Amino acid sequence: MTQAQLAALTRPRQPAIPRHCTFDPRDWEILSRYWHPVAFAADVQDKPLSVTLLDEALVVYRTQGRIVAARDVCPHRGAPLSQGWVENGNLVCPYHGLAYEASGKCVHIPSQPEGPIPERLCLTTYAAQEAYGLVWVSLGGGDVSLPDFPAWNTEGYQQILPPSIDIRASAGRQTEGFIDVAHFAWIHHDSFTDRHNPVVPQYSVERRPNGLRAEYVSTVSNFPKSMQHRAPDGFVWRRVFEVDVPFFARLTVHFPENGRLAILNAASPVSARHTRLFVPIARNFDQDLPLDDVYAFNRQVFEEDRAIVELQCPEDLPIDRSQEAPILADRSSGAYRRALGEIGLGQTYVR
Ligand code: FES
Ligand SMILES: [Fe+2]
Repeated sequence: MTQAQLAALTRPRQPAIPRHCTFDPRDWEILSRYWHPVAFAADVQDKPLSVTLLDEALVVYRTQGRIVAARDVCPHRGAPLSQGWVENGNLVCPYHGLAYEASGKCVHIPSQPEGPIPERLCLTTYAAQEAYGLVWVSLGGGDVSLPDFPAWNTEGYQQILPPSIDIRASAGRQTEGFIDVAHFAWIHHDSFTDRHNPVVPQYSVERRPNGLRAEYVSTVSNFPKSMQHRAPDGFVWRRVFEVDVPFFARLTVHFPENGRLAILNAASPVSARHTRLFVPIARNFDQDLPLDDVYAFNRQVFEEDRAIVELQCPEDLPIDRSQEAPILADRSSGAYRRALGEIGLGQTYVR
């Protein structure tokens, strides 16, 4: 039997709702079917790492060339396995030393080395994979495919992984903010925009089976303020937003001289009110400039967003558009909310 088959056998078909779940249970179940990022791939090594996804505490580690994600609760007496260590490829619990192989099965009980090993001593494991410099987990089995971020693996593109950002807001609010073109002039006037250029020209939004594609053409520069002289006079900026529900949003910005900047806004729903934002970036220009400048600019822009998104009320994203008052510039938000509604998310998904 392969390791994948073993993992499938030990994986629950219907994951249990976490004890202190902050989501509506039906919405939690829907969100659990999708892939969400939980950590940088480089941070997942043989030292167990503690992360939280959809209110579920997880332990994530790498052993024998594969990534394992499991509920961070030892089935013996409930100790956190993330406090343990990996030895001979097995995860060792710090409390009584029970060792679990990558499939989740207990293979050693130090206090009774000759056995028996009860069948119930088996971890709850989840589907995990590595992509775009991140580790992704699906609590519901990973039957839905992980969406593409093609620029990441395109030859000639530099891969950049700025530090993650923790936001006290829902992943839906954050993701909608990422595709919102009307806020540029107001929230980002210190970093790259201009309050005197607030008009949003009409733009196209197309619904896709799993989300949407919006194409926004404007005179809003994407260079940081200190570099805006680099765009020729009258340069027209093209931004293409592509979203896969629930929280996988890509932005491709067309720079002068065929420069392309591709940003993946990968919002991880830690809880209904807490998002960990990962932003893998790929670009085909400026590859000799210091990465620290990219990290600083990225942080400035997303901190500007964070400051307002954390204050929005209600804190969850109303799926029913009649709860707020949309304007013409909100076409992409409207399509996003419709797409979330179509996968079954409710009017509100915070408890
Ligand atoms: S609680 Fe983990 S070995 Fe006892
Ligand atoms: Fe923004």
